[in-house]
Amino acid sequence: MTASTLTNPFFSKRHRAIPSDAPLPNEPVYAKLPQAPRTGSPVPHLTSLYHHDDGGDYGNRGYPGNCGGNLIRDLLTFFRPRMVLDPMSGSGTCQDVCHELLIECRSGDIHAGFDATSSDAMRSLAGDGADFVWVHPPYWRQKLYATDCRDLSRTSTLIQFLERYAAFIQASVQVLLPRGRLVILMGDYIDREVGLVPLVYHTKRLAYEAGLRQSCTDIIRFSHGASSSRKVYGGAIIPMLHDVCMTFERG
Ligand SMILES: C[S@@+](CC[C@H](N)C(=O)[O-])C[C@H]1O[C@@H](n2cnc3c(N)ncnc32)[C@H](O)[C@@H]1O
Repeated sequence: MTASTLTNPFFSKRHRAIPSDAPLPNEPVYAKLPQAPRTGSPVPHLTSLYHHDDGGDYGNRGYPGNCGGNLIRDLLTFFRPRMVLDPMSGSGTCQDVCHELLIECRSGDIHAGFDATSSDAMRSLAGDGADFVWVHPPYWRQKLYATDCRDLSRTSTLIQFLERYAAFIQASVQVLLPRGRLVILMGDYIDREVGLVPLVYHTKRLAYEAGLRQSCTDIIRFSHGASSSRKVYGGAIIPMLHDVCMTFERG
Protein backbone atom coordinates (compact mmCIF):
# COMPACT_ATOMS: atom_id res chain seq x y z
CA MET A 1 0.00 0.00 0.00
CA THR A 2 1.32 3.44 -0.88
CA ALA A 3 1.24 6.49 1.33
CA SER A 4 -1.48 8.01 -0.83
CA THR A 5 -3.83 5.00 -0.45
CA LEU A 6 -3.24 5.04 3.31
CA THR A 7 -4.31 8.67 3.54
CA ASN A 8 -7.05 8.41 0.88
CA PRO A 9 -10.40 8.60 2.72
CA PHE A 10 -11.97 6.08 0.31
CA PHE A 11 -9.74 3.39 1.78
CA SER A 12 -10.66 4.04 5.38
CA LYS A 13 -13.37 2.02 7.14
CA ARG A 14 -15.31 5.14 7.98
CA HIS A 15 -15.97 5.83 4.29
CA ARG A 16 -17.17 2.33 3.48
CA ALA A 17 -20.44 3.26 5.14
CA ILE A 18 -22.99 5.44 3.31
CA PRO A 19 -21.52 8.95 2.97
CA SER A 20 -23.30 11.44 5.22
CA ASP A 21 -24.21 13.63 2.24
CA ALA A 22 -25.86 10.74 0.30
CA PRO A 23 -29.47 11.58 -0.62
CA LEU A 24 -32.24 9.92 1.37
CA PRO A 25 -34.08 7.20 -0.60
CA ASN A 26 -37.10 9.38 -1.46
CA GLU A 27 -35.18 12.56 -2.09
CA PRO A 28 -34.90 13.62 -5.77
CA VAL A 29 -31.37 13.83 -7.17
CA TYR A 30 -30.65 16.42 -9.86
CA ALA A 31 -27.94 15.59 -12.39
CA LYS A 32 -26.42 17.91 -14.95
CA LEU A 33 -26.91 16.58 -18.49
CA PRO A 34 -24.37 17.10 -21.26
CA GLN A 35 -25.22 19.92 -23.62
CA ALA A 36 -26.97 18.68 -26.78
CA PRO A 37 -25.76 20.02 -30.12
CA ARG A 38 -28.07 22.12 -32.29
CA THR A 39 -29.63 20.01 -35.02
CA GLY A 40 -32.44 20.25 -37.55
CA SER A 41 -34.57 17.94 -35.40
CA PRO A 42 -38.25 18.86 -35.09
CA VAL A 43 -37.99 17.65 -31.47
CA PRO A 44 -34.80 19.26 -30.09
CA HIS A 45 -35.31 17.91 -26.57
CA LEU A 46 -35.34 14.32 -27.88
CA THR A 47 -31.80 13.11 -27.21
CA SER A 48 -30.24 9.82 -26.17
CA LEU A 49 -31.15 10.63 -22.56
CA TYR A 50 -34.90 10.72 -21.95
CA HIS A 51 -35.10 12.05 -18.44
CA HIS A 52 -38.54 13.68 -18.24
CA ASP A 53 -40.50 12.52 -15.24
CA ASP A 54 -43.90 13.42 -16.70
CA GLY A 55 -45.30 10.50 -18.70
CA GLY A 56 -48.15 12.59 -20.07
CA ASP A 57 -51.86 11.99 -19.91
CA TYR A 58 -51.99 8.82 -22.00
CA GLY A 59 -52.98 5.24 -21.25
CA ASN A 60 -53.36 4.21 -17.63
CA ARG A 61 -50.39 4.97 -15.36
CA GLY A 62 -51.67 2.26 -12.99
CA TYR A 63 -51.39 -0.49 -15.62
CA PRO A 64 -48.45 -2.82 -14.81
CA GLY A 65 -45.54 -1.88 -17.04
CA ASN A 66 -47.17 1.36 -18.25
CA CYS A 67 -44.52 3.39 -20.03
CA GLY A 68 -45.88 6.93 -20.23
CA GLY A 69 -46.69 8.45 -23.60
CA ASN A 70 -44.44 11.48 -23.95
CA LEU A 71 -41.54 9.46 -25.36
CA ILE A 72 -43.89 7.89 -27.93
CA ARG A 73 -45.25 11.34 -28.81
CA ASP A 74 -41.73 12.69 -29.34
CA LEU A 75 -40.72 9.72 -31.49
CA LEU A 76 -43.84 10.02 -33.64
CA THR A 77 -43.26 13.74 -34.05
CA PHE A 78 -39.69 13.02 -35.08
CA PHE A 79 -40.36 10.14 -37.50
CA ARG A 80 -43.82 11.26 -38.75
CA PRO A 81 -45.22 7.86 -39.69
CA ARG A 82 -48.58 7.50 -41.43
CA MET A 83 -49.66 4.24 -39.81
CA VAL A 84 -48.59 2.92 -36.41
CA LEU A 85 -48.92 -0.64 -35.18
CA ASP A 86 -49.02 -1.23 -31.43
CA PRO A 87 -49.22 -5.00 -31.00
CA MET A 88 -48.69 -5.19 -27.22
CA SER A 89 -50.84 -2.23 -26.33
CA GLY A 90 -51.40 -2.75 -22.59
CA SER A 91 -53.45 0.21 -21.39
CA GLY A 92 -53.49 1.89 -24.82
CA THR A 93 -50.78 4.50 -24.26
CA CYS A 94 -49.58 4.53 -27.87
CA GLN A 95 -53.16 4.54 -29.17
CA ASP A 96 -53.90 7.65 -27.09
CA VAL A 97 -50.81 9.45 -28.39
CA CYS A 98 -51.73 8.61 -32.00
CA HIS A 99 -55.25 9.86 -31.40
CA GLU A 100 -53.84 13.20 -30.22
CA LEU A 101 -51.48 13.45 -33.19
CA LEU A 102 -54.17 12.33 -35.67
CA ILE A 103 -52.12 9.31 -36.79
CA GLU A 104 -53.83 6.02 -37.64
CA CYS A 105 -53.01 3.38 -35.04
CA ARG A 106 -53.94 -0.30 -34.98
CA SER A 107 -53.40 -2.06 -31.71
CA GLY A 108 -53.82 -5.46 -30.09
CA ASP A 109 -52.89 -7.24 -26.89
CA ILE A 110 -52.96 -10.79 -25.60
CA HIS A 111 -55.62 -9.61 -23.15
CA ALA A 112 -57.89 -9.15 -26.16
CA GLY A 113 -56.84 -12.52 -27.68
CA PHE A 114 -54.31 -10.99 -30.11
CA ASP A 115 -50.98 -12.87 -30.25
CA ALA A 116 -48.19 -10.64 -31.59
CA THR A 117 -45.87 -13.62 -32.07
CA SER A 118 -48.15 -14.97 -34.82
CA SER A 119 -47.22 -13.65 -38.26
CA ASP A 120 -50.79 -14.28 -39.51
CA ALA A 121 -52.23 -12.19 -36.68
CA MET A 122 -49.69 -9.41 -37.29
CA ARG A 123 -50.43 -9.38 -41.04
CA SER A 124 -54.15 -9.16 -40.50
CA LEU A 125 -53.70 -6.30 -37.98
CA ALA A 126 -51.31 -4.40 -40.25
CA GLY A 127 -53.29 -4.69 -43.50
CA ASP A 128 -51.16 -3.06 -46.21
CA GLY A 129 -48.23 -2.61 -43.82
CA ALA A 130 -47.05 -0.27 -41.11
CA ASP A 131 -44.34 2.35 -41.28
CA PHE A 132 -43.90 2.40 -37.51
CA VAL A 133 -44.26 -0.53 -35.11
CA TRP A 134 -44.09 0.53 -31.48
CA VAL A 135 -43.69 -2.22 -28.92
CA HIS A 136 -43.11 -2.37 -25.22
CA PRO A 137 -42.95 -6.12 -24.53
CA PRO A 138 -42.89 -7.88 -21.16
CA TYR A 139 -39.41 -7.98 -19.67
CA TRP A 140 -39.78 -11.77 -19.67
CA ARG A 141 -41.41 -12.65 -16.30
CA GLN A 142 -40.52 -9.53 -14.34
CA LYS A 143 -44.26 -8.76 -14.36
CA LEU A 144 -46.99 -11.25 -15.24
CA TYR A 145 -49.77 -10.03 -17.52
CA ALA A 146 -52.49 -12.32 -18.90
CA THR A 147 -53.28 -15.88 -17.85
CA ASP A 148 -53.17 -16.85 -21.57
CA CYS A 149 -50.23 -19.24 -22.09
CA ARG A 150 -49.31 -17.29 -25.28
CA ASP A 151 -48.47 -14.27 -23.06
CA LEU A 152 -44.68 -13.75 -23.33
CA SER A 153 -44.47 -13.17 -19.60
CA ARG A 154 -45.77 -16.71 -19.00
CA THR A 155 -42.88 -18.48 -20.75
CA SER A 156 -41.21 -20.66 -18.14
CA THR A 157 -37.62 -20.51 -19.37
CA LEU A 158 -35.49 -17.74 -20.83
CA ILE A 159 -34.92 -19.84 -23.95
CA GLN A 160 -38.67 -20.17 -24.52
CA PHE A 161 -39.11 -16.44 -24.01
CA LEU A 162 -36.36 -15.63 -26.50
CA GLU A 163 -37.77 -18.04 -29.10
CA ARG A 164 -41.20 -16.38 -28.92
CA TYR A 165 -39.66 -12.89 -28.80
CA ALA A 166 -37.69 -13.78 -31.95
CA ALA A 167 -40.95 -14.93 -33.58
CA PHE A 168 -42.50 -11.55 -32.72
CA ILE A 169 -39.57 -9.60 -34.21
CA GLN A 170 -39.71 -11.70 -37.40
CA ALA A 171 -43.48 -11.14 -37.65
CA SER A 172 -42.89 -7.39 -37.28
CA VAL A 173 -40.33 -7.40 -40.09
CA GLN A 174 -42.94 -8.98 -42.36
CA VAL A 175 -45.40 -6.13 -41.83
CA LEU A 176 -42.89 -3.25 -41.97
CA LEU A 177 -43.11 -1.10 -45.09
CA PRO A 178 -39.74 -0.67 -46.89
CA ARG A 179 -38.70 2.45 -44.99
CA GLY A 180 -40.57 1.48 -41.84
CA ARG A 181 -39.22 1.35 -38.33
CA LEU A 182 -39.57 -1.09 -35.48
CA VAL A 183 -39.16 0.70 -32.16
CA ILE A 184 -38.74 -1.47 -29.06
CA LEU A 185 -38.65 -0.29 -25.46
CA MET A 186 -36.94 -2.95 -23.37
CA GLY A 187 -34.98 -3.24 -20.13
CA ASP A 188 -32.63 -5.68 -18.48
CA TYR A 189 -33.76 -7.16 -15.21
CA ILE A 190 -32.58 -9.33 -12.38
CA ASP A 191 -34.44 -12.64 -12.29
CA ARG A 192 -34.73 -14.51 -9.02
CA GLU A 193 -33.35 -17.73 -10.56
CA VAL A 194 -31.30 -16.70 -13.59
CA GLY A 195 -29.73 -13.49 -12.26
CA LEU A 196 -29.15 -10.59 -14.66
CA VAL A 197 -31.11 -11.08 -17.88
CA PRO A 198 -29.58 -8.81 -20.56
CA LEU A 199 -32.74 -8.31 -22.61
CA VAL A 200 -31.41 -5.19 -24.36
CA TYR A 201 -28.54 -7.26 -25.74
CA HIS A 202 -30.92 -10.04 -26.80
CA THR A 203 -33.24 -7.54 -28.49
CA LYS A 204 -30.42 -6.21 -30.66
CA ARG A 205 -29.12 -9.69 -31.39
CA LEU A 206 -32.54 -10.96 -32.47
CA ALA A 207 -33.28 -7.84 -34.51
CA TYR A 208 -30.01 -8.13 -36.42
CA GLU A 209 -30.62 -11.85 -36.96
CA ALA A 210 -34.01 -10.90 -38.44
CA GLY A 211 -32.29 -8.66 -41.01
CA LEU A 212 -32.74 -5.33 -39.23
CA ARG A 213 -30.16 -2.75 -38.23
CA GLN A 214 -30.30 0.06 -35.74
CA SER A 215 -31.24 3.31 -37.43
CA CYS A 216 -30.51 5.79 -34.63
CA THR A 217 -29.02 5.99 -31.19
CA ASP A 218 -30.33 4.07 -28.21
CA ILE A 219 -32.56 6.28 -26.11
CA ILE A 220 -31.92 5.69 -22.42
CA ARG A 221 -35.25 6.29 -20.74
CA PHE A 222 -35.03 7.19 -17.07
CA SER A 223 -37.51 4.96 -15.19
CA HIS A 224 -39.33 7.63 -13.21
CA GLY A 225 -42.21 6.16 -11.23
CA ALA A 226 -41.19 2.49 -11.66
CA SER A 227 -42.63 0.22 -8.96
CA SER A 228 -39.17 -1.35 -8.46
CA SER A 229 -37.92 2.02 -7.15
CA ARG A 230 -40.11 1.59 -4.09
CA LYS A 231 -38.82 -1.91 -3.25
CA VAL A 232 -36.23 -2.79 -0.62
CA TYR A 233 -33.51 -5.27 -1.60
CA GLY A 234 -31.55 -7.15 1.06
CA GLY A 235 -28.36 -7.69 -0.96
CA ALA A 236 -25.92 -5.21 -2.44
CA ILE A 237 -27.02 -4.52 -6.02
CA ILE A 238 -26.54 -1.64 -8.41
CA PRO A 239 -30.15 -0.57 -9.05
CA MET A 240 -31.23 -0.20 -12.67
CA LEU A 241 -32.98 3.12 -13.19
CA HIS A 242 -33.49 3.03 -16.94
CA ASP A 243 -34.68 1.05 -19.88
CA VAL A 244 -33.66 1.40 -23.50
CA CYS A 245 -35.62 2.44 -26.56
CA MET A 246 -34.12 0.97 -29.75
CA THR A 247 -35.08 1.91 -33.30
CA PHE A 248 -34.53 -0.59 -36.11
CA GLU A 249 -35.03 -0.51 -39.86
CA ARG A 250 -34.35 -2.99 -42.63
CA GLY A 251 -30.66 -3.68 -43.06
C1 LIG B 1 -45.02 -3.79 -20.72
S1 LIG B 1 -46.72 -4.11 -21.07
C2 LIG B 1 -47.13 -2.80 -22.17
C3 LIG B 1 -47.67 -1.62 -21.40
C4 LIG B 1 -48.01 -0.46 -22.30
N1 LIG B 1 -46.82 0.08 -22.92
C5 LIG B 1 -48.72 0.63 -21.53
O1 LIG B 1 -48.19 1.75 -21.47
O2 LIG B 1 -49.76 0.39 -20.93
C6 LIG B 1 -46.59 -5.52 -22.11
C7 LIG B 1 -47.91 -5.96 -22.72
O3 LIG B 1 -47.67 -7.06 -23.62
C8 LIG B 1 -48.80 -7.88 -23.61
N2 LIG B 1 -48.43 -9.19 -24.19
C9 LIG B 1 -47.69 -10.19 -23.67
N3 LIG B 1 -47.55 -11.21 -24.52
C10 LIG B 1 -48.20 -10.85 -25.65
C11 LIG B 1 -48.43 -11.48 -26.90
N4 LIG B 1 -47.95 -12.71 -27.18
N5 LIG B 1 -49.16 -10.80 -27.83
C12 LIG B 1 -49.68 -9.57 -27.57
N6 LIG B 1 -49.52 -8.94 -26.39
C13 LIG B 1 -48.78 -9.56 -25.44
C14 LIG B 1 -49.22 -7.91 -22.14
O4 LIG B 1 -50.56 -8.28 -21.96
C15 LIG B 1 -48.95 -6.45 -21.73
O5 LIG B 1 -50.11 -5.67 -21.85
